[in-house]
Amino acid sequence: MKEKTLSIIKPDAVAKGAIGQIIDCFTENGLKIAALKMIHMSQREAEGFYAVHKERPFFGSLTEFMISGPAVVMVLCGENAIKKNRELMGATNPAEAAEGTLRKRFATDIEKNAVHGSDAPETARTEISYFFPELEIVNA
Ligand code: CMP
Repeated sequence: MKEKTLSIIKPDAVAKGAIGQIIDCFTENGLKIAALKMIHMSQREAEGFYAVHKERPFFGSLTEFMISGPAVVMVLCGENAIKKNRELMGATNPAEAAEGTLRKRFATDIEKNAVHGSDAPETARTEISYFFPELEIVNA
């Protein structure tokens, strides 16, 4: 089933100069880019994006990290894009991520973990519309 998912290259991976390698990984593995932009999130935008985690002990530090520098937000599109993106990213904790996955290659720790990807169709819809109006999404 053709799907869309939201991907974020987080500030740690942008600072490491890994944007190109991460995009290559997606496109070489059959995902297409339907939207892409670089943004520097405000505190309010980061808190809104991660609102589901607001009761977690790491919420303050996570949002601080997400506003620490620019990030790249993208809509990826393709067959089973949500699952495929999550496979390419690897486990949330890079210490548990499989060899060759993006988090194994580029993450620093469980918080500064290089990339984000939507976890389900409903989340993907909400997360995509958080950053992109319909007009900015192409038919990839
Ligand atoms: P992400 O896939 O963007 O979803 C929620 C984010 O919270 C996660 O990646 C990490 O950046 C962060 N996170 C998850 N678990 C922890 C944790 N135990 N400690 C710190 N940060 C975490």
